[in-house]
Amino acid sequence: MVKVAILGASGGIGQPLSLLLKLSPYISKLALYDVRDPAGVAVDLSHINSVAEIESYHGDQLGDALRGARVVVIPAGVPRKPGMSRDDLFNINAGIVRTLCEGIARSCPNATVLVISNPVNSLVPVALETLRKNNVQNPENRVMGITTLDMVRAETFLGDYLNKARVSSVGSKQFDKRRMHKLVTVIGGHSGHTIVPVVLLKPLVYMMKPGEYDRFLNRVQFGGDEVVKAKQGQGSATYSMAFAAHRFVDVVLRSIQRMPTDDAGFTPAYVQLSQLPGGAEAQNKLGAGKAAAEYLSLPVVLRDGRIERIDSSVLDQLSVKEREMLKTALPELADNVRRGKRFICNPA
Ligand code: NAI
Repeated sequence: MVKVAILGASGGIGQPLSLLLKLSPYISKLALYDVRDPAGVAVDLSHINSVAEIESYHGDQLGDALRGARVVVIPAGVPRKPGMSRDDLFNINAGIVRTLCEGIARSCPNATVLVISNPVNSLVPVALETLRKNNVQNPENRVMGITTLDMVRAETFLGDYLNKARVSSVGSKQFDKRRMHKLVTVIGGHSGHTIVPVVLLKPLVYMMKPGEYDRFLNRVQFGGDEVVKAKQGQGSATYSMAFAAHRFVDVVLRSIQRMPTDDAGFTPAYVQLSQLPGGAEAQNKLGAGKAAAEYLSLPVVLRDGRIERIDSSVLDQLSVKEREMLKTALPELADNVRRGKRFICNPA
């Protein structure tokens, strides 16, 4: 059984994510930590008769929250307001992620670290470089950015479209939106044009009406803006993000328990490609140098909560359009990564 710590547990994502993880049969202890005391959330959740025991920590109790944690999930930071891009959050959230990762290096250096805070494209490098700077060995096999919300959106929007348009020639009258991961995945990064949806069953694209495919792509890339606008300044995606994070954490926990998962090998995460088995092969397929595709979201195969290898087979299935989108994404991603690394390695 496993201890999981959520850093930023009092927030819009942290609270529903805590609820979903409280229900996990694979967690024995769930430590909630925030600078805003999560005691109320913890007491409330502790009345649920599921397996996980709830602990609550705040302020300078970060070390206690992290001690013994096998998995650490980080939704701490500020969310977007209308008119802000994910990059606008960088300066505040990079400092928060750095502080939290210094704590991880001290208290649970072997933990798997899952970054939700935005901009994910830059904050995963911040997390990794902070751990390295604090003498944590080979953190690249267990630090991942959670990009699952892009997958969830792609599955929902494509499923909705196919059901509405009654595209039934793939053998079923209604598409089960919960099983869409066999039909679509998302790779690249986690902001705007760096998000690259990939339709795995190519005939679906040709079945779409003119303009619908582009509308689908745009909605996955900018789905976050829809939520920010609808919440009128009150924040960004929280419930759908908590659902997505729970789905990803569940895959990580199942890999620790050696339990099969529905989407094994199809679970993309944003990782440092260049340091991982299968990473060089992925870079070769992209035709990009190490620097151009150092970090990318690609399907990862997990074992014991760590990345065993990158599965780059999706890169063999790209259409001309998907390949073009990825090519557009790479320079922006490289910039985002440089910004994150500079924050830790050459602070101004
Ligand atoms: P929120 O403001 O509701 O919650 C953030 C929580 O972090 C607050 O409770 C705050 O007290 C806490 N916090 C701040 N500094 C901290 C520190 N040093 N240690 C511990 N806790 C700290 O924000 P929300 O909506 O929960 O979003 C959190 C982050 O997740 C944002 O950066 C947002 O952009 C990002 N996000 C990521 C998504 C993804 O797909 N990866 C999707 C949606 C949001």
